[in-house]
Amino acid sequence: MNINKKKTVIAGNWKMNKTPIETKNFFKDISSISTTSKCDIILCVPYINISYAVKETEGSNIKIGAQNCHWNESGAFTGEISAKMLKSINTQYVIIGHSERRLYFAETDATVNKKIKAALKEHLKVILCVGESLTDRESNITNEVVSIQVKIALKEIPKEQIENIIIAYEPLWAIGTGKTATAEQADETCSAIRQIISSLYNNSIAENVVIQYGGSMNSKNAQELLSKPNINGGLIGGASLNANEFVEIINIANNKNV
Ligand code: PGA
Repeated sequence: MNINKKKTVIAGNWKMNKTPIETKNFFKDISSISTTSKCDIILCVPYINISYAVKETEGSNIKIGAQNCHWNESGAFTGEISAKMLKSINTQYVIIGHSERRLYFAETDATVNKKIKAALKEHLKVILCVGESLTDRESNITNEVVSIQVKIALKEIPKEQIENIIIAYEPLWAIGTGKTATAEQADETCSAIRQIISSLYNNSIAENVVIQYGGSMNSKNAQELLSKPNINGGLIGGASLNANEFVEIINIANNKNV
């Protein structure tokens, strides 16, 4: 496959961190990279920070995302936020199916599929998260597990929409643990995901789909992970909370693009 390596996409996932004031400060601290960066930058922030983040990044090349959405447009779903609501405040991306949502909030592959459809309907771009548990990896069923997740998530999603979906491969055992998959392990599973996309759609779509690695990525290991052929970027949790660390990762991704 002739993988499109030009599109490096670095996304931060702040999870349940930072207040609006901390959000404003963070964007001031990273302003040096906000207009000069060659790679695409996305920050997925808590709902209450989206409007602040959108304002702070106006005119820059940083895109703002949410971390979840509901599949209905509106209704009696206490505590939920719809894709339509996100769009109304100029959110551009939404993470769907993060393993913490699957683990703590009972999200299934079927609800992930419904949420992706809802997001695309509102012209939001999606970061779809998939990944295996440690038991899955030790049982040598990583590719099967990830394949099922991808296939159900993308059920009835037409090929024209795949360019609006980034796939983030995040092994559960590497998230927030300080344990990173080796660059070889990450590349191998990202390659398997690309094969699944090829079988569901076609080779050219598989070559162009952006596949990120996520799980304890930081400025120390980013270079090696991003140099792998099947890895087009990173979804970064802990290390995206610190402006200096995040800027360093962006710089690594930029240098890789030169
Ligand atoms: P981490 O989180 O970088 O803190 O491991 C990644 C993620 O959950 O997206």
